Amino acid sequence: MDAKAFASIVLAKRSSLVHRYLRRCAISLAKIFEQYPDRRYIMFGGKGGLGKTTFSAATAYYLAKQGKRVLVFSVDPQASLSDIFKKDIFGKGPTEIIPNLYAQEIDADKRIREYQQEIRQKILDMYGMEAIPEEIESYIQAAAAEPAMEESAIFDEVVDIVVKGDYDYYIYDLVPLGHALYYLSMASVYDAWIGKITGLRQQMREYDQVAAVMRREKEMDEDAILNELLYIKERINKSSSILTDKEKTAFFFVITAEQMIISDTVKAAGLFAKFDVPLSGYIVNRVLSDSLKGQDIPEYLKNRLTMQEHYLKVIDETFSGQILASVPEMERDVTGLAMIEKLAAAMF
Ligand SMILES: Nc1ncnc2c1ncn2[C@@H]1O[C@H](COP(=O)(O)OP(=O)(O)OP(=O)(O)O)[C@@H](O)[C@H]1O
Ligand SMILES: [Mg+2]
Repeated sequence: MDAKAFASIVLAKRSSLVHRYLRRCAISLAKIFEQYPDRRYIMFGGKGGLGKTTFSAATAYYLAKQGKRVLVFSVDPQASLSDIFKKDIFGKGPTEIIPNLYAQEIDADKRIREYQQEIRQKILDMYGMEAIPEEIESYIQAAAAEPAMEESAIFDEVVDIVVKGDYDYYIYDLVPLGHALYYLSMASVYDAWIGKITGLRQQMREYDQVAAVMRREKEMDEDAILNELLYIKERINKSSSILTDKEKTAFFFVITAEQMIISDTVKAAGLFAKFDVPLSGYIVNRVLSDSLKGQDIPEYLKNRLTMQEHYLKVIDETFSGQILASVPEMERDVTGLAMIEKLAAAMF
């Protein structure tokens, strides 16, 4: 056998491996959704630019076509759902894309402006003022500029969306990993903080009981505060319990066949485990077509294919049995419904 014939046999064997790999993966993601209909909160996590928004949109599209009512929403101020659906949805609430498919980009600034207005109104009502004094106004402005304010506004909005329960599926279009972790940890920090305050308030109420008889009105005020705190606590509990509920949540990691992505994802998965985020599996994105191999292709592409083959093996070993889908590199970026449909077909 000459060298060329030998090479073509090796190539054919390799490409059938990739084929088998793609086929084996392709069945599983659709099955996961079939098998676990209660997992209604769907998240795609991963490093920046790997395809979280793309997969969120494609999954929303797939589920909507199955007749499920789906909301895909983004908490990222630099959200790109508008780009992928080619529709300006920023700050416009849930917007229908196709029947059953709604998309929403949260406008945190708007929510903050609403907070500010609420505070102004409360001050005006409480003190019977005509206008907000300048000093107080500048304080309100300064508080709104705090980064924590934006986080809390986003958090609040997410809680609102989820607590309302209008949809069969909620797909969170997450921000890159570090931020998502911060978001999750915030839920537990919030929870601990509010738990402490409500505990204190409850204790004080007991000590206060005798005195309170004489201060009837004051006690009523404090009860209102306590009730407000309990209400917030309940909302936060609800949203963080959803995030960490194995029965209701599916969290998928998006990866690509590259060294850094694989090792960072292994680390991140460890951190997520600490927050008890239920991990449903991994999806490999941007797999180069093996059909390229038989063709006359430039050296750099050959190198990429060889590298990919190696790292697909590493992925298989590292995340054995947890790879649910493998999505090919498309001929162009994924925007617009036709491309989303194509990607969804590859995914499911
Ligand atoms: N399989 C694919 N084939 C071709 N292009 C793709 C594929 N997957 C993603 N892309 C493109 O890659 C770019 C990044 O994808 P996407 O916005 O989904 O990543 P992301 O993980 O949401 O990024 P970020 O971390 O910034 O939110 C987009 O232009 C998208 O169209
Ligand atoms: Mg994104």
